[in-house]
Order: sequence, then structure tokens, then C-alpha cells
Amino acid sequence: MSQNTYNFPKEFIWGAATASYQIEGAWNEDGKGESIWDRFSHTPGKVNNNDTGDIANDHYHLWRKDINLMKELGLKAYRFSISWPRILPKGRGKINQIGIEFYSKLVDGLLEAGITPFATLYHWDLPQALQDEGGWEVRSTAEAFVEYTEAITRALGDRVKDWITINEPAVVAWIGNDIGEHAPGYQDMRRAIPVSYHVMLAHGWAVPIIRRNSPNSEVGITLNVGWREAASNSSFDLDAVREGDGKWTRWFSDPLYGRGYPADVIADFEKQGYLPKGMDFIKEGDLNAIATPTDFLGVNYYNREVVRSDASDNEPQTVFEKPKTPENWTEMGWEIYPEGLAGVLGMMYFDYKPLKLYVTENGASYSTAPDENGVVNDTYRLDYYKTHLAAVHRVMQAGVPMAGYFAWSLMDNFEWAKGYAQRFGIVWVNFETQERIIKESANWYKNLIKNNGFSAQS
Ligand code: FCB
Repeated sequence: MSQNTYNFPKEFIWGAATASYQIEGAWNEDGKGESIWDRFSHTPGKVNNNDTGDIANDHYHLWRKDINLMKELGLKAYRFSISWPRILPKGRGKINQIGIEFYSKLVDGLLEAGITPFATLYHWDLPQALQDEGGWEVRSTAEAFVEYTEAITRALGDRVKDWITINEPAVVAWIGNDIGEHAPGYQDMRRAIPVSYHVMLAHGWAVPIIRRNSPNSEVGITLNVGWREAASNSSFDLDAVREGDGKWTRWFSDPLYGRGYPADVIADFEKQGYLPKGMDFIKEGDLNAIATPTDFLGVNYYNREVVRSDASDNEPQTVFEKPKTPENWTEMGWEIYPEGLAGVLGMMYFDYKPLKLYVTENGASYSTAPDENGVVNDTYRLDYYKTHLAAVHRVMQAGVPMAGYFAWSLMDNFEWAKGYAQRFGIVWVNFETQERIIKESANWYKNLIKNNGFSAQS
């Protein structure tokens, strides 16, 4: 084996990922209830270009075609999410059978095509009816999540054997409720903290239900784990790394792995006045529930952040950021840093020892369009995949039990607050005609899957 050849174990799972609101469309069809993303995108000024997910990739109608696409690429697995308000239009109560049938048919179609379904229960499209009662800020939403989990795992648990409870709880809490760039759009850390808590509680409560309704299945959660480095070795910048990792990662992973809430982050929040009543939302037994053992950890990784603090002792400055060229930065304005993927996988494994890990999302936004021959020569994206997969390979040599990798995304789609302007797909989508075109990165990925490895030269 030459040094630049990356071979993966036989059972390694190669997949691609999507999320319900980003691709399905059919936002008000067949009894589906309104979600917070319907409400948010229908509010002028919230999403770039006022784009909405009303139609998106029309996957709700074109799912057969999309399964064929996956088959053509040779995907071993497909990570998709289930729209809670399609199953329970009001968040709890009456089940919408047509919604269940949609996912049931999708799952059957995947299995027929030899593709393993990985289902995410919550990828951000909370029923608006629950938001109207306080959303994740209130405990009753975690209780409703249990009801939803019960309904969907009873229906699909015989066929879906890989479950992800929540996608990126940190983004749900901090971007949706403090930064306000995502639905429901609040800018209030005092709300965001109980939100961060109740999504984790919902996760913990859901795990035993999934296990009961889906025998021999595996259950995990997906965390977004960014790689942070200090802009300088000043104590302020170093502390900014601690604070960032604390708020965005440890605040979720520590309770998940039974360590409770990190004291340094609680102290930060107290100092900032965000915990006027302490952590009074924690009830007896909750922390044990959150720490219910899982079968795997999902990690989403995209970029590095070089962090600085505003405080004055910022000398000497050592900014490592790469020059702002497309080789180094994607169109999201995210710096490309494959070493960071190795870093976060190593950090999460050696710190918490999950039984195994998946990269549940990784990818790059470039708008490279079809040329006059209809070829999408997305070289930058292809290079991104190569370098990041080399990083995955490297950590596996170091003993990190990686079980699979999911490209984000199977196809261009509604990129949340950025709308359709950002394209993460390995498949091009023409949103006017709903035509799909396999990009060169997808052709490369197809080959990789076929060979179960790749060489840096190819
Ligand atoms: C992640 C989301 C996913 C996608 C990528 C680019 O945070 O989970 O839906 O938008 O970012």
C-alpha cells in the first residue's frame, strides 16, 4: 500500500445526509402541521432572499427518483430526518397516518435499494403549536418529544435500525434562541439555556423508547463539534477557546457522558447574568436520563475557528487563518481545516470514549454550476472530501473507532438562513425544474465507495 492510499475497513458505512425541512417541500400537504421553520421562513427578512422550504427539492414527491440517485452512487446508507409536524401536526395528540406512510414507503424503498436508513428524529422543524406553548424552553416539549418518538419508532422500528435523536443541540439552543439566526429566532440567552437543557432531556428520554420499539437497533445523538484555536497565546485568547469549547461542546457532551454540567461554563453563564435562578429546571433523575448510555456518537464537522477575546492583552498575535481564497475558504465563509476533523474526532473519542463514532455531516458549499456540457466540475468540493477523508483515515490508524461517514449533503438544498444561495450537495439541483445532476465530487465519492478507499492522486 502506497503512503497516499487510504483503504477503509470492509464494514465502514458510506453515506450522505439530508434533513426534512431542507429537502421535502410539501409544507402544508397531506395533513402536515406548521413547523417553526415554516413560520420563520414565511416571516419576511428572516431568510436570505426570503427563500422558503415550501417546495425545496420537492423530495416529498420525488423521493423515488432520489433513491435511484443514491443507488446510482452506490451509497450504503442514507441519513434523513423525520418531520415531527408531519407525524403529529400539533406536536402531540392525533397522529397523521399519511405522514407515517410517507416515511414508511421511503424506508421500504431504501431497503429495497440495499441502502441502510439512518433516521434523525429532530433536525430542527419543531411543530409551531409546541413553540406557541414555549417550545424547547419548557419541559412539556421534551414530554411531547417522547410521544412523537413513541409514534414514529412503533411505525418504523421494525425496519430502521440506526437512530439519531437530535441533530446539533447546540445549534438548536444558541443559534435558534440566542443568536436568533435560526427559528424560532429569539435573541435571549436566558431562554436559550433551558432550551439547551430540554433538548438533551428529550434525547435521554427517547433512548429507551427507541430501544423498546426497535429491537437490536443502535441509538446515538449528533453533536456539532467545531475545532477552536486561539489567535494568540495570550491568556485571554486561550480562555476564549475554553469558553467556546465549553459553551458549544462540553455543555452538551459532559452531561451526555454522565459528568453533569461543566462548572466553568456554569460560572461563565452566572457571571454573564444568564442564570438568575440557577439551574432550577433540573429535576430529580434528569441528569441520569440525559446520561443514558448510547451506542454511538455522531459528529458534524465543517471548519476551524480561530478565536480571540476582546480583552486587551492580545500580544503576541499569531493568526493562523489561511488566505481567503476558494481553496481555503468555502462560500459559507468557513475556513477549510481538515486537521480540525482529526482533532475533534480524537478529542471526542479519547475524552469520552463513545463505543464508536460516525461523521454524520461533513462537506463544503460551492456554487459551481453545470458547464455547457452539463458537467459540474466541483474541484474545490472534491478536494475538501479528499483531505477530510484522509483525516478520518488518520484517526482510525490512531485507534478511533470510526464506523462511517456521511457527506453533507446528498443534494443542494435549502440552507437555512442562507436559503438556496449556498449549495452543499454532491448532486446539483435546478430548483426551477427539479432536475438533479451528479457532480464530479459525487462521481469521485461513488468510486471511493466502490473501492472502499481512494488514493490521493485520483
Ligand atoms: C449543519 C446542519 C445541516 C446543514 C449544515 C451545513 O449545521 O446540521 O442541516 O445546514 O450545517
